Amino acid sequence: MKRVTLVDVFKHRITQKYLQRSGIHHAVTVSGYAFDMALKAGVDPDLATKSALLHDMGHYEWYRDGKWDYEEYRKHDIHAIKGAERAHKLLIRLGEDRLVAKEVSLAVLLHTDSYLPFELDDKRTKLQDVVAKADEKDEQPLGLHHYKNMDKSEAIQRLNMLDLKIEEFYDGQAG
Ligand SMILES: [Fe+2]
Repeated sequence: MKRVTLVDVFKHRITQKYLQRSGIHHAVTVSGYAFDMALKAGVDPDLATKSALLHDMGHYEWYRDGKWDYEEYRKHDIHAIKGAERAHKLLIRLGEDRLVAKEVSLAVLLHTDSYLPFELDDKRTKLQDVVAKADEKDEQPLGLHHYKNMDKSEAIQRLNMLDLKIEEFYDGQAG
């Protein structure tokens, strides 16, 4: 089966629609971190980078009266739940393997525990841990990491590089 690439995922209209809100820069940067961390942790880099790319696709509008209200946003936040569902639907539409779609969806669901009544800490799988740590690495106070700019062509270029590295990794394993 042909691999669904990061570029395939990125270009899909669902991704384009939802990634605008949380920021392409953040999504692509976290994917890059997730690749490096996955190799070190012995985690599948395809799963880690896909989860990282999609981890914030559940974000919704968080402005109130034209202003960014962080406290208000956090109180009602369920972006990880929405993201998990959107990521799953998107990957299935792209013809992704169903187990991959489930693993990615779970990593999106558990990339943060800020909306949960308990902490996840050591309960995450290695994949989920890589995605959470990669996200943390790019985070800035007050959610400012969501407002950095990256145009679509640069995002595609960077994701294409990651796709090549992932394929190299698989070739290395097969050979
Ligand atoms: Fe994030």
